Amino acid sequence: MSILNTEPPTTQSAPPALELSSISKHFGGVRALEDVSLRVYPGEVLALVGDNGAGKSTLIKTIAGINIPDSGTISCAGTEVKIDSPRHSMAHGIQTVYQDLALCDNLDTVQNLFLGREIYSPFGRRLQRAAMESRARQVLADLGVSTLRDLSAPVGNLSGGQRQSVAICRSVLWEPKVVLLDEPTAALGVAQRKQVLELIVRLRATNHAVIVVSHDLADVQEVADRVAVMRLGRKVAEFTRGGYDRAQLVSAITGLGVAASQPSAGETT
Ligand SMILES: Nc1ncnc2c1ncn2[C@@H]1O[C@H](COP(=O)(O)OP(=O)(O)OP(=O)(O)O)[C@@H](O)[C@H]1O
Ligand SMILES: [Mg+2]
Repeated sequence: MSILNTEPPTTQSAPPALELSSISKHFGGVRALEDVSLRVYPGEVLALVGDNGAGKSTLIKTIAGINIPDSGTISCAGTEVKIDSPRHSMAHGIQTVYQDLALCDNLDTVQNLFLGREIYSPFGRRLQRAAMESRARQVLADLGVSTLRDLSAPVGNLSGGQRQSVAICRSVLWEPKVVLLDEPTAALGVAQRKQVLELIVRLRATNHAVIVVSHDLADVQEVADRVAVMRLGRKVAEFTRGGYDRAQLVSAITGLGVAASQPSAGETT
């Protein structure tokens, strides 16, 4: 039967890298988020799923400091924080990779990775290309990205999977604790999707807390330690790896069938 488990999957001694408590957000009469609570631990991948309009992007944007919640609290590593802007979100160790990736197509991989925080020589303000390239290669190697060899090619020439890899590596250069990925495998072919999923696994292995929004339930089942299901602005179910099947996930998303009959903590509070 359905397991609506709000507990973390393993015995965690550290506090959650990120915890949301009773977050609500309305846009006029639209209830985009209602009393949403969730947490993600270092070294854990939490998938956020739900139908169109369920509130997933609103939730990501709330953590990223683009939306300001009407009520509720956000804590990082056990300390309540105020996230009023993207700058605050980043300052608390949160990096967000949006679906459009915001890469500059005419610039190469190294330039994109260091956009806005280029390394200069201490005197003379000369750009330290070699230092940036070596740091770039290190991050790519740490994350197991082997398909990006020519770091001098414009990223506009790269494949969708490679571009996604550049965007994720760019976020990791800021040494975040939490990485938010909005639809990282959308519109990718099979091989490229696999690359990006491997990258997510690597983020987990390097102790990042990862929240990934996805409509691809196969990807979710493959990569997520836990899955939070959103419906009409509420978190209606939470599943732990190995504790659910595809049918249960689908019925939680749609509100029809087996899992829908099981209330979650989000629905009862
Ligand atoms: N800035 C906004 N102004 C008004 N309404 C908004 C705004 N942002 C989101 N909404 C509304 O909030 C609800 C949740 O939208 P959201 O984009 O979070 O859904 P989603 O789960 O990301 O959907 P999708 O899978 O289609 O991306 C929708 O009804 C949407 O129209
Ligand atoms: Mg969305």
